[in-house]
Amino acid sequence: MKNVAIVTGASSGLGKEFVKLLIDNKSIDNIYVISRNSDKLNKLKDDYGDKIIPYATDLSDMNNIKTFGKYLEKEDINIKLLINNAGFAKFCSYDDISIDESLNMINLNVSGVVTMGLVCIPFMKKNSHIINIASQAAFQPVPYQNIYSATKSFVKNYSRALNIELKEKGINVTAVCPGWIKTNLYDRGCINAKKGTTKFSHMVTTDVVAKKALKDAYNNKDISVYGLYVNGCRFLAKILPEKLVMKIWLMMQGIK
Ligand SMILES: NC(=O)c1ccc[n+]([C@@H]2O[C@H](COP(=O)([O-])OP(=O)(O)OC[C@H]3O[C@@H](n4cnc5c(N)ncnc54)[C@H](OP(=O)(O)O)[C@@H]3O)[C@@H](O)[C@H]2O)c1
Repeated sequence: MKNVAIVTGASSGLGKEFVKLLIDNKSIDNIYVISRNSDKLNKLKDDYGDKIIPYATDLSDMNNIKTFGKYLEKEDINIKLLINNAGFAKFCSYDDISIDESLNMINLNVSGVVTMGLVCIPFMKKNSHIINIASQAAFQPVPYQNIYSATKSFVKNYSRALNIELKEKGINVTAVCPGWIKTNLYDRGCINAKKGTTKFSHMVTTDVVAKKALKDAYNNKDISVYGLYVNGCRFLAKILPEKLVMKIWLMMQGIK
């Protein structure tokens, strides 16, 4: 039986960083890398070798995830680590994007995370880990990225509650809540909307977020927050009224 890790959204940004950090981990025999772009996944295999198993699919369609579950049934594996990282944002008003795009964000960021977990948990044993990538946006309602922030609140709350339920199986779940990271998220997120997020302060690199996420997960923490700035924002979001927090956010973004 092989010990494996599964990384979704592995073709770029934070997901790719996780793959880089896991490649030399001797306790993991294979890393299943998932995203839609098969060329980029195959490039990971070219770069890192046979430890990488590319699996190209669209995780916003739950039938694809169920098909992945059937595929896993044929493999002799023990999933040591599942990293639900695939996700996207749209930084704009509710009516700047279509109903389908809005729903697609919910499908990938919420349903995809839940379905991947439910499909993978039966293949996990004691001392295994699930890392779900939420966001700093999980700590408060965020106008002009209302769906994105709500999906990330879901991921944070769902992960922390699931962590308690999975304790008896010895599986730990960690919600990772990063601030802005230098990735391709903005290519898809910024659509030149009249009102939208344009100021991305305290941006950090993928390595620091991924390293802290893995460290926190292996220490069985249920939440991972990198950096003083994000921890400070989290604290303020806890103690201030949400209306005020949203007002401050709009002022910081220069949105009237
Ligand atoms: N960057 C930030 O500032 C930031 C901050 C907080 C949280 N996050 C979260 O971090 C995670 C990773 O994002 P990132 O910043 O690394 O952005 P990214 O560079 O755009 O990476 C997103 C990854 O998700 C994959 N993906 C997108 N749609 C998919 C779909 N329908 N099915 C399967 N895979 C899909 C993409 O691959 P394909 O295009 O090949 O499918 C890509 O590998 C996301 O959950 C994001 O919400 C990011």
